[in-house]
Amino acid sequence: MRYTNGMNTNTDSSGSLDRLAAEEFPVTENHIYLNHAAISPWPERARRAVQAFAEGITRDGSLHFQDWQETERSLRERIRDLLNASGTETIALVPNTSAGLSLVAAGLDWRPGDNVVITDSEFPSNRMPWEALAGQGVEVREALCTPAGDADCEGNILRLVDDRTRVVSVSSVQFGTGRALDLERIGQALSGSDTAFCVDAIQSLGAFPFDLEAIRADFVAADGHKWLLGPEGLGLFYCAPQWLERLHLHQWGWHMAEPFGDFDAREWRPATTARRFEPGTPNTPSNHALEASLSLLQEVGIVRVAERIQARVEYLIEGLSALSDAEFISPVDAGLRAGILNVRFGGRTDKVYQALREGGVQVLTRAGGIRFAPHFYNRYSELDRVLEIVRGA
Ligand SMILES: Cc1ncc(COP(=O)(O)O)c(C=O)c1O
Repeated sequence: MRYTNGMNTNTDSSGSLDRLAAEEFPVTENHIYLNHAAISPWPERARRAVQAFAEGITRDGSLHFQDWQETERSLRERIRDLLNASGTETIALVPNTSAGLSLVAAGLDWRPGDNVVITDSEFPSNRMPWEALAGQGVEVREALCTPAGDADCEGNILRLVDDRTRVVSVSSVQFGTGRALDLERIGQALSGSDTAFCVDAIQSLGAFPFDLEAIRADFVAADGHKWLLGPEGLGLFYCAPQWLERLHLHQWGWHMAEPFGDFDAREWRPATTARRFEPGTPNTPSNHALEASLSLLQEVGIVRVAERIQARVEYLIEGLSALSDAEFISPVDAGLRAGILNVRFGGRTDKVYQALREGGVQVLTRAGGIRFAPHFYNRYSELDRVLEIVRGA
């Protein structure tokens, strides 16, 4: 994933978009919310969708089942568009990113001596499923991606690949450093080889365009609760068509079977689509929330969302650069970063963090610094307040 724009002004041309943002995010009434790399607030429309669902099921039980199915169908189509996938039959709804990545790790035919290449700064969800294969003689190789602004991350990944590398599995954006990987470069280098390409996209999907056709990933996993502005506990898993029937299955239930919905059938087989990864009843309340959240992102347009996030991160970089003790853990080069800006303030870091929290700014500490993660709706006046607090701490 690599996205740059030429924009570094603090004015957005579209006032109507700012109005929409203000209507959709009451979180801004009480907080300066820059924690989208952790758990995002829902937009109003997600709350309304879940409330309507709750009222319906409370009053009428399953009477509106057809409507729920319609929402689920729409959700799958929105995910297809977000990924630029060719259809919905390659997309499964899963509980979270970890579950998606584990489907790959548990589903391949491993032989002793095989290896998996990841980076040195992965979230545990994209390290543990591979490390858990140690008993089968699988080696995990970590490519140097730190310091985030200097390391030739993609080159280091590709240099670790050899003829026993079964999977390269990377986060599109590293959770701590915010380093965005050039997924197209990795995907194109691996394309046509025996090495599968797996992407943990949770730190970029919803914030930046994602183009499966260009990236040529074999697998993509992400949960909905970060940049997608959705609920926790509902994620997506993309499986390229050529892998659908090659991954071994480890979970079983009525929902994944063909014939679908025939509970008396004693002859069955797993669906040939990604429904084979969905053994049981869907997470219907969350489907409603995520469908609504994605409708907002798609209404704004993911390119515009990305431009606005980039501009806000750039604004913070400019403001913080004036401070003598600001040390950027994240890359400052627009081509190497996404929505995460991680900064240390020498011996002041803890104090600055405390001051931000006391000042109503929602951020977290990660990788030794303070992680700022603005979304498209954050206002520049909020960022000015953040800069003021950091200066004064
Ligand atoms: C890169 C990355 N992957 C995965 C996760 C979370 O995984 P899951 O969706 O399984 O909870 C996070 C959460 O911080 C993350 O930053």
